[in-house]
Amino acid sequence: MDVDQQRLRSLKGLKWSKYDPDILPAWVADMDFPPAPEVVSAIQEMVDLGDFGYRFHDADLLIPTWCDWIERSHGWRPQEDECRTFTSSMQALEAVMVLHSQPGDGVALFSPIYMPFRTAIEQAERRVIDIQLQGPDWKFDGERFTDALDPGTRVVLFCQPHNPTGHVYTQKEIDEFAAIVEDRDLIVISDEIWADITFDGIRHLSLFPNNRALRDRTITVGSASKAFNLAGARCCVAHVGPTATRVELDKFPDHYFGVNSSFGAAATVAAWTRAESWLQQVKETIERNRNYLHDRISKETSGIEMHLPEATYLAWLDFSKTNLSDNPSKELLEKAKVALEPGKKYGTQCGTFARLNFATSMEILELILDRIFEVVTE
Ligand SMILES: Cc1ncc(COP(=O)(O)O)c(C=O)c1O
Repeated sequence: MDVDQQRLRSLKGLKWSKYDPDILPAWVADMDFPPAPEVVSAIQEMVDLGDFGYRFHDADLLIPTWCDWIERSHGWRPQEDECRTFTSSMQALEAVMVLHSQPGDGVALFSPIYMPFRTAIEQAERRVIDIQLQGPDWKFDGERFTDALDPGTRVVLFCQPHNPTGHVYTQKEIDEFAAIVEDRDLIVISDEIWADITFDGIRHLSLFPNNRALRDRTITVGSASKAFNLAGARCCVAHVGPTATRVELDKFPDHYFGVNSSFGAAATVAAWTRAESWLQQVKETIERNRNYLHDRISKETSGIEMHLPEATYLAWLDFSKTNLSDNPSKELLEKAKVALEPGKKYGTQCGTFARLNFATSMEILELILDRIFEVVTE
């Protein structure tokens, strides 16, 4: 896939505009590839027609289109009348969390984790029940989970595949998780927006269809924002398994959660219906990048440690055995002119880590690594 640095530098998006031009950005989870032509033409058609009024055509198609996409890509079909639309996955997650808990209740997460999960719990005045995953493979640990839960815990925020570690939970891990969730009578909000980016033939397993005990307690959150690079579209679809959650959500007035913009909906529907071959190319490119990154990190003696991610375009790098162990992303920004995400945002125990986004060209990735290896030593 071609990546044009001049185009990237002229974008108004956060990734390339936050830092000075001497910095190479590999931080926020946006990709550097040009968008799918099918998505561009869907928006272009609206622009050409000046079709900017009350246009609900694509917004009305979000649910059936997502259900078709999930069926084609992941082998199960969410029931359309059990789905609801939101403007983002975080909105879905926050709305359901608040419905199923009271201030002071516990809400569990598995850290390291995409940082807004923790912020959402804290802002809603719930208690963070922090279950710390262990490297190098970041697998689910039933004993830690059980030990961390208390009688006031109501909800679990799950992320499958997992950001930032790139772990894809297996059937065995899901079954172990489900047994505890059922025993403790918890509601699970499963953020599956990375589902479409897995490697090595590994299949993403949605929680809802893959364990019977999870059926009445799982809300599955999907979006085109990661796989199709459409974070600006502000469209999300959630399958709401528990009847009680749907009843509670439906009590809110029509506009309470906002409605999807016609531009975002047009882009999202085009992605799920017509951009599959673009996604295939992107996956091949990022899998190649992942292997290149892992190879260099394994071979060049810098002390950096990286577990091969099974999904996502994020590498979770451990700098604890390097000269930059105190605050790797800060030091790399200053000394290597490379912007990574600071590990400590993802978990209080993760100060020696940094997250690197490798969804870019091989040329930029090489440059990023050259710069990192120039300043990191064992
Ligand atoms: C696991 C996870 N959930 C939610 C989000 C936010 O996505 P959105 O902006 O589509 O709500 C991200 C963004 O990277 C993410 O990685």
